[in-house]
Amino acid sequence: MHLNFNEMSIAQEIEKRRTFGIISHPDAGKTTLTEKLLLFGGAIQKAGAVKSNKIDMHARSDWMEIEKQRGISVATSVMAFEYEGSKINLLDTPGHQDFAEDTYRTLTAVDSVIMVVDCVKGVEIQTEKLMEVCRMRSTPVISFINKLDREGKDPYDLLDEIEGKLNIQVHPLSWPIGMGKTFQGVYSLYDKSLRLFKGGQQLHEEATKFSDVNSPELDKLIGERYANQLREDVEMLQDLYGDLPVEDYLSGKVAPVFFGSAVNNFGVKELLDTFLKISPNPKPRKLDEEMISPTHKEFSGFVFKIHANMDPKHRNRIAFLRICSGKFERGSNYYHTRQDKKFRISQATAFMAQDKETIDEAYPGDIIGLYDTGNFKIGDTLTEGMKGVYGGIPAFSPEIFREVINKDAMKTKQLDKGLAQLMDEGVAQLFSFELGSRKAVGVVGQLQFEVIQYRLKHEYGASVEFAPMQLYKACWISSKDPKKLNEFLGSKQRHIARDKDDKLVFMAESKAWLQMVQDNFPDIEFHFTSEF
Ligand code: G4P
Repeated sequence: MHLNFNEMSIAQEIEKRRTFGIISHPDAGKTTLTEKLLLFGGAIQKAGAVKSNKIDMHARSDWMEIEKQRGISVATSVMAFEYEGSKINLLDTPGHQDFAEDTYRTLTAVDSVIMVVDCVKGVEIQTEKLMEVCRMRSTPVISFINKLDREGKDPYDLLDEIEGKLNIQVHPLSWPIGMGKTFQGVYSLYDKSLRLFKGGQQLHEEATKFSDVNSPELDKLIGERYANQLREDVEMLQDLYGDLPVEDYLSGKVAPVFFGSAVNNFGVKELLDTFLKISPNPKPRKLDEEMISPTHKEFSGFVFKIHANMDPKHRNRIAFLRICSGKFERGSNYYHTRQDKKFRISQATAFMAQDKETIDEAYPGDIIGLYDTGNFKIGDTLTEGMKGVYGGIPAFSPEIFREVINKDAMKTKQLDKGLAQLMDEGVAQLFSFELGSRKAVGVVGQLQFEVIQYRLKHEYGASVEFAPMQLYKACWISSKDPKKLNEFLGSKQRHIARDKDDKLVFMAESKAWLQMVQDNFPDIEFHFTSEF
């Protein structure tokens, strides 16, 4: 195949790009690791420049504080930086579990993931959930086991725990020598080098090549006891794992594992360097049923996140678009496939570390911020003319449901508009019952109700209260037999609602009852996500 000059330069840009997200249970060290990576990229100059996007629970009642935190989270949503000839796009994911849906959606925009695990706590619940999402999409995952300067679990047990709880095969690429007070350093099994731990920041210190662990030099460096232990470990690991099957990493079957200490900047460079060697650059993605290569000559991308302006007087928003193919050029007219309309995109921003800057062009893998006055919804696709939608942003059944009670009948219009816009942003899910005018809002965590109530009041002037509802799950329903589906809808009328895309949903009141209904209606399929 002959590529013209334009296609060739796009191919080179794609080759350079790595778009990934860091996931972890809160407090495992995601912010710290992000900061160290940015320091390597020269995107920031000093430690402490990256703000955690953690929602501080002590500040719950102080709404200005939450708004400020939302501001921080948009500023640090995407951090792009250059490192050794690569263009790295790091996407931040909210750590707080109440905003898990936001994280799930962000994961649809990345090509790979680094998962941070705290060696003291091991694999925690939030990581298990996030890993499920990675598995659904076969996203390649690298694990970084952090806080080796603390007394943690045995490294072999940690590997077992990752395999057991996260249901993925592991493949250690580095190995710790000692731990906590006796932590000596890590040995890289990937490029056979030793890095000694001296505490403190070790930004420029190089590792020493140590291709033969049997060398007596090793005893001099870490003492006979640790040297012998390392020799034993290396032999056993080599027997157990052999060389890394990079293809299996790329297909999401095997997770390479690194050990280190983010706060001490230890083991981070090995992680970054190996990551750049093995991680995927942008790959083809499915537009409806067709695979679109990133080198496709036409631009295309999809919106995975929308962030509203915090200033209620300016109700503009930023739509975060992941580019999937071709070259984005500011000032061009692009086709909004849901609205079947062309839009001129005159404002677009790139996110460089913590600054936003206007950009004129961008390539597959890049995330750009589009100025939006209400035209975009999460999941929207923008192209140069191709029709279709980039799928794969499923909604999951919420955990908690409340009925929306309008407290000010004069502001019904504002309420409807506000609710619709907040749902476009993906703040929560709205289900409208087929009978009557009841509406249920479903969320992952309690905190979201407070955010919605506050924002409806301050941004739209609408007053709502949320009344408890006895609901267990929202199940998207389908059937191969339209007659059976109609019968089901007729007999369960009171429990049928529509989601934001008008899809049919069965609102199950309890686990036991759902089970009974499933048994009684074997021709109906019940799905816990909106894409099936
Ligand atoms: P998160 O974004 O995943 O929630 O975690 P974050 O990086 O904020 O780290 C959580 C805490 O763990 C921080 O301490 C951080 O300094 C500490 N930490 C990160 N990496 C390491 C490590 O390698 N070793 C040790 N011992 N600690 C580590 P904090 O007390 O909550 O905050 P700070 O006052 O230290 O910033």
